[in-house]
Amino acid sequence: MTIAEALLHWYDRHARELPWRNPPGAARPGDAAWPYRVWLSEVMLQQTTVAAVKPYFAKFIATWPSIEALAAADEAEVMSAWAGLGYYSRARNLVKCAREVAARGGFPQTEAELRELPGLGPYTAAAIAAIAFGEPAVVVDANVERVVARLFAIDTPLPAARGAIRERAGEITPKQRAGDFAQAMMDLGATVCTSRDPSCELCPLAVQCAGWAAGDPARLPRKAAKKPRPERRGRAFWIERAGAVWLVTRRGKGMLRGMRALPDDGWSAQADGSGHAPMPGDGLSMGVVRHVFTHASLTLELVRLDGEPIGEGEWWPVERIDEAGLPTLFAKAVRLALTRR
Ligand code: ADE
Repeated sequence: MTIAEALLHWYDRHARELPWRNPPGAARPGDAAWPYRVWLSEVMLQQTTVAAVKPYFAKFIATWPSIEALAAADEAEVMSAWAGLGYYSRARNLVKCAREVAARGGFPQTEAELRELPGLGPYTAAAIAAIAFGEPAVVVDANVERVVARLFAIDTPLPAARGAIRERAGEITPKQRAGDFAQAMMDLGATVCTSRDPSCELCPLAVQCAGWAAGDPARLPRKAAKKPRPERRGRAFWIERAGAVWLVTRRGKGMLRGMRALPDDGWSAQADGSGHAPMPGDGLSMGVVRHVFTHASLTLELVRLDGEPIGEGEWWPVERIDEAGLPTLFAKAVRLALTRR
C-alpha cells in the first residue's frame, strides 16, 4: 500500500468532524458556498487552534453566509467580530479578498491564481486548491512538516529542512482526493503524530515510517535555536467620564491597526522598547498587563488619566465594553481597569 492509500483508509474512519469540513470522499460539485467556507476556515486556522476557531467560524457564517455578504460588510464590523482571534491583518485582508472574489464572480480554482488574492500565502492557496477544488496541490503546515520529517527521518533542522520536506510531501501527495489527503495529514499530526508524545501504536503509517524504524520519532523535526522574543514596554490610558471610557481606532501602519483600543503611547512603534512618548497630564498607575505577540512580549502599564481625551475617538459606555470588539491585549487592560478603578 502507498502512504496515501494507507492514510486515506485511516482518514475514512478517523477524520475529525469539523464544521467547515465535508465528510471524507464527499465532493460538492456546484455548491457555491463551499469554497467560501473552506477559505474562511483556512484563513482563521492560520496560527490558530481548531478549538479557538470554531466559535468564530460559526459567528462569521451566521452573520455573513456568503462571499457576497462578506464583501458588502462594513470593514469595522468585521474587525470587531474578529476581535480576540489575533493576527488582525488577516481580518483586513479577509474583507479585501472577499471584495475581489465577489467582483470577479467567484474564487479562482488554481493554486497559482489563488496565491494572487489578498492574504493568501503558499499554505492557504494550496489548502483551498486541494480541499475546495481537488487540485493535487502540496499542502504543508506545521503538522504536515512534523509528519513528513518523521516519515522520512529528515534530520536537517527547521527551517533549513523546509525544501526537503516540501519535496517529500509532493512525492506522497496523490492525484485523487488531494483535499482529503491534506486534511488527513493535518489530522494525523494533530491527533496521532503529535509533537511531544506521538502514539505510534495507533499510526496507520508506522510500518512505513523511517523515524519510527530509527527508534525515536519524537526527536524530529529538529529545530534551529530560536532567538529570544524581544521585551517591549508601553503605556495605555484609562480616561473615564460619566460611565464611559475613551476608545480610539488604531490608525497608521502599526500593529492592531483598524482595531478599537484604549489610547496609548505608541509602544508598537518602539522597536527596542525603550522610551515613551511624553505622557499627557498626570496619571495614576492602575497596574500592568502582559501579552505575548509573535515577535515580542509586551508589558503594558495602564495609567488612569483625568485630563482631556487623547486623539480621535469615542466615549464608550463601560457597561457595554464587551461589545467594543477590543483585541485581547486591550480586553486584558480593561479587565484590570474594572478591578482597580
Ligand atoms: N488546520 C488548518 N486547516 C485545517 C483543516 N482543514 N483541517 C484540520 N486542521 C486544519
